[in-house]
Amino acid sequence: MTRQLQPIDPDFYGGRKVVVTGGTGFLGARTASQLEASGAVVAAIGSKAFDLTEQVDVRRLYEQHEPSLVVHAAGAIGGIGANVANPGRFIYANALMGLLMLEEARLAGVEKFVLISTTCTYPNSAPLPMREESLWDGKPAGATGPYGIAKRMLHEASIGYESQYGIDSATLMLSNLYGPGDHFDEETSHVLAALVRRFVEAVANGAETVTNWGTGSPTREFLHVDDAARAIALAGSRHNDPAPVNVGTGIETSIKELAELIADAAGYTGAIEWDTSKPDGQARRYLDVEKARAFGFAAEVPLAEGIAETVAWYREHVAG
Ligand SMILES: NC(=O)c1ccc[n+]([C@@H]2O[C@H](COP(=O)([O-])OP(=O)(O)OC[C@H]3O[C@@H](n4cnc5c(N)ncnc54)[C@H](OP(=O)(O)O)[C@@H]3O)[C@@H](O)[C@H]2O)c1
Repeated sequence: MTRQLQPIDPDFYGGRKVVVTGGTGFLGARTASQLEASGAVVAAIGSKAFDLTEQVDVRRLYEQHEPSLVVHAAGAIGGIGANVANPGRFIYANALMGLLMLEEARLAGVEKFVLISTTCTYPNSAPLPMREESLWDGKPAGATGPYGIAKRMLHEASIGYESQYGIDSATLMLSNLYGPGDHFDEETSHVLAALVRRFVEAVANGAETVTNWGTGSPTREFLHVDDAARAIALAGSRHNDPAPVNVGTGIETSIKELAELIADAAGYTGAIEWDTSKPDGQARRYLDVEKARAFGFAAEVPLAEGIAETVAWYREHVAG
């Protein structure tokens, strides 16, 4: 089950050549669909066609597709385990891909560059709700720190390229994404997808208890991938300012509430227990989402509805 995407600014996107890097990934594929629904001629690029850590491939990408607008959503990313295992690789690949994409964009005469970034760029000490102004008030911490610092550097690169070379750009810091098409495997999944898998499997196996890590009290924010794709399309047509902007719901949800919503959607009626000997991570995280209103974005998909869609998609496409 996936929702119908509504066209955004078809006068702007109609016939426009757009490259979406990461177009084979979770966010990039949905963004490509949103831009196509808006009339753009979209090349959704994956790593098999172009390895964006190689300058020759990046140059070939621009020669072949001649985009006027680029959405750079490719990223070396993963769950906590992948981040812990790859601090060097994640800095190298994310920084290099972003810099090569920008440098070759200006040589190719691209008009607009939309950089997809993340709230993993924020320091843990950022006051709540997290505001764009606090981004540099500390180092991005924890397992995702190296990934965050590479993305943070790219924010500054976009600002520099706009100022020196006049490439219009927009930089969007997305909160935790979820939705149909997400990654559900143990290695790469984030918390929401991991819980979907756990509760659907519990129902299938007739389990009477599901035990989750920690106390369940930490809060996080969850953005449906369709809302993220809509924000990207809106920023592409309406927002020319490289200063990073939060894109999220501004709503904090505790992991406990999240587990209950997912259990309900999956039809799980057994007990939910918490292994409080396991660490909780940061206590609270959610965004101030006012700035994105300047280009007409506010998240729309209610969490319960998005979770129901995600559970249905997982059952149909992954669980079998
Ligand atoms: N998922 C989230 O919760 C979240 C939250 C905030 C921000 N973001 C940002 O959103 C973007 C997309 O994330 P996602 O969740 O959609 O990730 P994903 O599903 O893992 O997709 C990553 C994409 O990047 C491509 N890629 C990786 N290395 C590449 C390389 N060397 N050359 C060319 N392409 C390469 C992959 O291509 P192949 O699959 O073809 O290898 C894939 O299309 C990332 O920039 C990430 O930082 C994601």
